[in-house]
Amino acid sequence: MNVYGEHYRTIWIKQDDTAVIQIIDQRHLPHKFVVEALPSVDDVARAIKEMHVRGAGLIGAAAGYGMYLAALHAPPDSFMDRLTADGEKLKGTRPTAVNLEWAVNRQLEAVQAVNGDAKTKIQAAFDTAQTIADEDAEFCRRIGQHGVSLIEEISRRKHGETVNILTHCNAGWLAFVDYGTATAPIYAAHDKGIHIHVWVDETRPRNQGARLTAWELGQHGVPHTVIADNVGGHLMQHGLVDMIITGSDRTTYTGDVGNKIGTYLKALAAYDNNIPFYTALPSSTFDWVMRDGVKEMPIEQRDAAEVHTIRGGHEGTIKAVRLTPQDSPAANYAFDVTPARLVTGLITERGICRANEDSILNLFPEKRQRYKEEGVKLTTFLTSPRGNQ
Ligand code: MRU
Repeated sequence: MNVYGEHYRTIWIKQDDTAVIQIIDQRHLPHKFVVEALPSVDDVARAIKEMHVRGAGLIGAAAGYGMYLAALHAPPDSFMDRLTADGEKLKGTRPTAVNLEWAVNRQLEAVQAVNGDAKTKIQAAFDTAQTIADEDAEFCRRIGQHGVSLIEEISRRKHGETVNILTHCNAGWLAFVDYGTATAPIYAAHDKGIHIHVWVDETRPRNQGARLTAWELGQHGVPHTVIADNVGGHLMQHGLVDMIITGSDRTTYTGDVGNKIGTYLKALAAYDNNIPFYTALPSSTFDWVMRDGVKEMPIEQRDAAEVHTIRGGHEGTIKAVRLTPQDSPAANYAFDVTPARLVTGLITERGICRANEDSILNLFPEKRQRYKEEGVKLTTFLTSPRGNQ
């Protein structure tokens, strides 16, 4: 995606040193564009935990590369033990985005499948990390191709008048390797010359919308307006929102959407105003085991300091200022779950489906097939809280 006219991904292997991963350190955006080098799995774990990188797809890609670095430095005599321990360390950094554990497990399976010395296993980890990143970018591109049809349809209905899309948090290319999920149809529509305008929720407390989505839409030349988190309902009541597209950090195979805190309230308002609410996600964000998102999804609670303070740029530096009284406690729930019944549809790399078990499994039949092959009756699997895993 565009950064001052140059194409960037959010994560890559350093050109002249394949033992180092490079990322865009998102803590500094939009005030400064900083590239950070990560030479070890510990650096990757810290970068995920402290949100230098963030967003489900990018967290997954970072975990993939982190496992490659872990393999690179694992002692040959305890290779798999070290890799497994480093995988646990990565999985412990953030609980909600399912892509994290998905990428770590994919790496462990790929390395385990290799019969050979440490060098061969390191090569397998390198290849898998690159594949995870490439797939993420390609799946997001396809999400754009599928999702743009929804925007086109609204544009046709409005006889070419501007289509107003509301989005929450940052499910843009900064949250993935490239393109983004919620933004992919937006970029595709803009590139096709469809008139669009994006309402960008600021997304307190870390303001991913105000800082990141606004910045990347601006880099791509997409018309947008940043709004405070409380504004969406009012806009919807007054016909100023045609559709909502969000991303997801974990979506159950039954269609419950886990996403940045505040998403549920937008879905409720959309439902009340009969406005389509879509979630865009790659298959790596589905949880194929979890049935009831509201009851079962792990919700990250972050440091209260993020609520007490607000960060912004001032004369070339980034500063945090206190908002709350010294003695008031604060709570910082980072995600919420929007029940499937409030979700109009899911935009995936394979196409658009309804947010329900049948429709999702029709799009991903191998998930249904897998359990049949293993001799586990799907119904049994799907009715037990954590399946048989
Ligand atoms: O806490 P973050 O910034 O990692 O939150 C994740 C998100 O970017 C959003 O919830 C987003 O809408 C999901 S799409 C990756």
